Amino acid sequence: MTRALPDGFLWGAATSAHQTEGNNVNNDWWKLEQDTAAYIQASGDAVDSYHRYEEDMRLLADAGFNAYRFSIEWARIEPAPGQFSRAELAHYRRMIDTALRLGLTPVVTLHHFTHPRWLGAHEAWLRDDAADLFTRYVGEAASILDGVEWVCTINEPNVLAVNHGALAEVAAGRPYPFGMLPDTKIGERLIEAHLAVAPLLREATGAKVGWTVANQALVPAAGAEAKHAEVQRIWEDMYLEPAREDDFVGVQSYTSQLVDQNGIVPHPEHPDNTLMGWAYRPDALEIAIRHTREVVGEVPIVVTENGIATPDDERRIAYTTSALQGVLNAVDDGVDVRGYLHWSLLDNAEWGRWEPTFGLVAVDRETFERRPKPSLAWLGSVARANAL
Ligand code: NOJ
Repeated sequence: MTRALPDGFLWGAATSAHQTEGNNVNNDWWKLEQDTAAYIQASGDAVDSYHRYEEDMRLLADAGFNAYRFSIEWARIEPAPGQFSRAELAHYRRMIDTALRLGLTPVVTLHHFTHPRWLGAHEAWLRDDAADLFTRYVGEAASILDGVEWVCTINEPNVLAVNHGALAEVAAGRPYPFGMLPDTKIGERLIEAHLAVAPLLREATGAKVGWTVANQALVPAAGAEAKHAEVQRIWEDMYLEPAREDDFVGVQSYTSQLVDQNGIVPHPEHPDNTLMGWAYRPDALEIAIRHTREVVGEVPIVVTENGIATPDDERRIAYTTSALQGVLNAVDDGVDVRGYLHWSLLDNAEWGRWEPTFGLVAVDRETFERRPKPSLAWLGSVARANAL
């Protein structure tokens, strides 16, 4: 039986600047990649979307999608403190115009994990003036957002608050620590920054403004309810609560995780695990949407990321079909879900690794040739039908 999504549903795919543009030499991730070149894989030219964004968007539009989520790079726009690059602002304005011309609703993210180097590698959000500096950048960025209906202030603030400590470990030559909790102090700074810029953006652009939270679909092990509640709050709910006042909230879901008395349990080895080492859990999206709804109430939800790192495109289609059934279940129960943006349009630089391929489109890293996978046409046809 075919099940339809609400009229006007956003169907798209998502990317971020650092993962796709190439040569983001002025940001903190670039520096980390250079410093740790012996053991993490650098983004380098990435997939050259800085120059090929029109081709990328055309692939999406031609396949039947109506939305594209991408981010703009703070480090390009403000390469030195208080100095804003008109050329880079114009570049991102051209991206927005291109999306609009191709019939793609742009969903623009202002901060996706990276910072200008001048903010300081590990102290960025520990600085007392962090929220003010972010607000100054957003004030400039707002000048190019005319006609943009959906703006995301900060991508996965909860992961950003983990990365603060976790990337210091990586920089010191140690592995990315599993199970580290978000730093609450950083989290509070990020909330402060979001609450400062959201009203400014609404007033300046008329856009719907929200942020996108990494939803963990955390499940308690038997007897671990108290620990689960504690981790749930620190990991997720403190970032969802501010969204109660927003125009929308973004749900980003990939897997589900178990919490026992000691905290988050590593994903057990299993042949079904994805290239990220995550458990294959397409049902996590429905859990995430329902949990988000419980915390934020009536605020509209957009699935701003969902996908799977796999070399097997049939598996990508199976995962996504199942995840979308979860979206439909939630919609049928009256949850206001406005869109589904698949992660990712392109295979791209997965933060120090190239192996986990999330894309609907493969990219030849030598020639940058785009090679659509069958999942692009498949999800595009779902988008055209607005039904599954
Ligand atoms: C969430 C992040 O926003 C994105 O940058 C990342 O590539 C995906 N998850 C997959 O890990």
